[in-house]
Amino acid sequence: MIAPRATIALTVNGKTCEGTTEPRTHLADFLRHDLGLTGTHVGCEHGSCGACTVIVDGVAARSCLMLAVQADGASVETIEGLASGDALNPLQQAFWDRHGLQCGFCTPGILMTLTAYLRDDPSPDAETLRVVLSGNLCRCTGYQNIVAAALDAAARLRTGVAA
Ligand code: FES
Ligand code: FES
Repeated sequence: MIAPRATIALTVNGKTCEGTTEPRTHLADFLRHDLGLTGTHVGCEHGSCGACTVIVDGVAARSCLMLAVQADGASVETIEGLASGDALNPLQQAFWDRHGLQCGFCTPGILMTLTAYLRDDPSPDAETLRVVLSGNLCRCTGYQNIVAAALDAAARLRTGVAA
């Protein structure tokens, strides 16, 4: 039996979005397939890898563990909202400069995790960042460049220097 579709309205990267979705659809699929925001990646769909991390009402969240209908009325930030046109934001620019990108599959989730964290703690140390990143599993790096980029980004954000 097909469940009736639900109509939801949410704010994504500052824009109001409406759509209809099956109640079983998770937020990551809604973002990717219904809104065309394919920067949010889906890895495990079990809440383990962190690739699908977005920010919901200011908090980093696994979008594979949240139903789209649960985001009705919420404010969601995705990787597409970080840059201003072609201009990378300070965190993205630090990743570029410090070679933190690797193959890129995990990168959107990592950037969203760090975006949320750096708002709360603008002066983290490397050890703290490794703990923060422990929920984002990445197979193609030892995290060294990612931690370096995050430290660099924190300094840029504190001083207001983008690049
Ligand atoms: S896809 Fe959501 S945590 Fe892995
Ligand atoms: S960026 Fe390649 S597996 Fe993480």
